[in-house]
Amino acid sequence: MKGLVLSGGKGTRLRPITHTAAKQLIPVANKPILFFVLDNLASAGVTDIGIVISPETGDAIRDAVGDGSSFGIDVTWIVQDSPRGLAHAVMVSRDFLGDSPFVMYLGDNLIETRIGSFVEDFERSTTSAMVLLKSVDNPSAFGIATVDEAGRLTRLIEKPSNPQSDLALVGVYFFKSAIHEAISVIEPSSRGELEITDAIQRLLDSGADVESRIITDWWLDTGKKDDLLAANTTVLETWCKGIVRGKVDASSRLVGRVDVGEGSVIRGSQVEGPVVIGRNCTVTDSHIGPFTSIGDGATIIDSHVRHAVLLESCTLSGVEQLTDSLIGRNATITRNGSDGAMRVSIGDDSYIET
Ligand code: TTP
Repeated sequence: MKGLVLSGGKGTRLRPITHTAAKQLIPVANKPILFFVLDNLASAGVTDIGIVISPETGDAIRDAVGDGSSFGIDVTWIVQDSPRGLAHAVMVSRDFLGDSPFVMYLGDNLIETRIGSFVEDFERSTTSAMVLLKSVDNPSAFGIATVDEAGRLTRLIEKPSNPQSDLALVGVYFFKSAIHEAISVIEPSSRGELEITDAIQRLLDSGADVESRIITDWWLDTGKKDDLLAANTTVLETWCKGIVRGKVDASSRLVGRVDVGEGSVIRGSQVEGPVVIGRNCTVTDSHIGPFTSIGDGATIIDSHVRHAVLLESCTLSGVEQLTDSLIGRNATITRNGSDGAMRVSIGDDSYIET
């Protein structure tokens, strides 16, 4: 079975961060989302993997993944010239896929479930496709499936206003080669994209069997800031180990699980886990609260931060309370003089709430 990871797209919902970086490389607990995806595939024995990239962010993704050997995978790079839909991404990958069965995995989706048993089920079955579903509270915001008693899909509806089910399509799909025929006959949707849901509906309409599996543990679609913070919280809660490789001075206190990367120095500070601090960071006279991830090379002085994702090399100085926040690479937040005025230099599409 081959793997197809979709890592192109525009990422408009995470702007401004995604103006300069691919959203699949945004770290959760200091590990890019895409790396969780590749690990999950590799652990299921899926090692022949095509990664779909866009011309804009493809190089950054290639640099991060390298030749794939650190994940134990072989990578084929597939450039999609513009994000014309998930089914279009499959279409441009046809040479790589051939007629092999494959698992398609959205590169910005985080699921806790290991997919190994689904890979085995699908390899054994004669079904044309299999999708993963999860029960959600707000079905109108998702692609929703209805299923019969045997778990076979009966219908798919994109963001229904009158949902008949609360089972959302998680971004992991299993296909046999019949999907290519279905994709070749669908038309772009009203948003101008070739939708994979239309292709799957096409399979259903032609009488093909499409199975489903329901996952019960967490699934995080990291499309927006609050989703990303929720993902960070859950991943820290589940996977933070509390390994200290850097230096923590005698006047500092680490409470609970706190990872401190190599070359980092914590002085005169309190850190309450779960927290991940990357490599070569400096934390001085500060309080870091739970559910915070701090990227490599960050500097935090005389500040109080909790429930936040700070990307590489950012600086906080004299910040009294920073919470529920996503801070981009190389960004600096510092206390101004005593006149109470706010002075900012922020990128396009930024959002500030004080
Ligand atoms: P989406 O979240 O559907 O689309 P997007 O990345 O354009 O995001 P936004 O809505 O924030 O603008 O994409 C899901 C995943 O699939 C994501 O990793 C990007 C990838 N993708 C492609 O590789 N090619 C495509 O044509 C599309 C639409 C998405």
